[in-house]
Amino acid sequence: MKKPIIAGNWKMYNTISQSCDLASQLVESLSLVKDVEVIICPPFTSLSEVTKIIKNTNIRLGAQNIYFEKEGAYTGEISPLMVKDVGCDYAIVGHSERRKYINEDNPLVNLKVRTTLEAGLYPIMCVGESLEEREKGVHEEIVYIHVTGGLLGLSEEEVKKVIIAYEPVWAIGTGKTATPLDAQSMHKFIRNTLSKMYNEDIANSVRILYGGSVKPENIKSLMAESEIDGALVGGASLTASSFERIVKFME
Ligand code: PGA
Repeated sequence: MKKPIIAGNWKMYNTISQSCDLASQLVESLSLVKDVEVIICPPFTSLSEVTKIIKNTNIRLGAQNIYFEKEGAYTGEISPLMVKDVGCDYAIVGHSERRKYINEDNPLVNLKVRTTLEAGLYPIMCVGESLEEREKGVHEEIVYIHVTGGLLGLSEEEVKKVIIAYEPVWAIGTGKTATPLDAQSMHKFIRNTLSKMYNEDIANSVRILYGGSVKPENIKSLMAESEIDGALVGGASLTASSFERIVKFME
């Protein structure tokens, strides 16, 4: 049985002091949680303060993005080694907002996944179709391309460390959640794709999260699906009380 992961993606919200307040509230409310892996991904500017607040707790830190080189003349970019240095264990890679606004494509996502792993971080690689793609019925093709393109060339040992987040773009920040069955069916499809790329054992060991308007009200029914290993939460991770209820979905 895999330990469920609940990851909060704070996106471009929260100043340093707001981040510290939120992190402190989470430490207070989540310090006894042992059966769920809790990850928070604040903006870069808050990482060095938040890392102090969650030190020696069960809450882990993630970055929302990283560059695909470890160092060099890349003005404005942040290396995976730098986020590791500040205390991150995870990095979100290929979020749909970056695919859309910064034109990140699958080869770039693949480079980022590889550098993240080389730096000793666990990548949370996001995949998912747009509304248009879903309506055209090509959602599986799109997700297939995201998964195979993002994981291209990874060894078995490496792929086991990748966390995949299936986030249908039409469900992100819209209040529209994929039904648990829609999510389950795409997670199964991803699992089968991994099985073909590697083998069944590897496919079963990779954790696949669902993301897109996850809330305290729908987390339980999503987590009841056998192929859903956790959630990547945006909006509802910005309030301590709602994130707490999501993390404690089993209670
Ligand atoms: P949402 O965002 O929960 O606000 O829909 C999820 C995400 O983008 O990771």
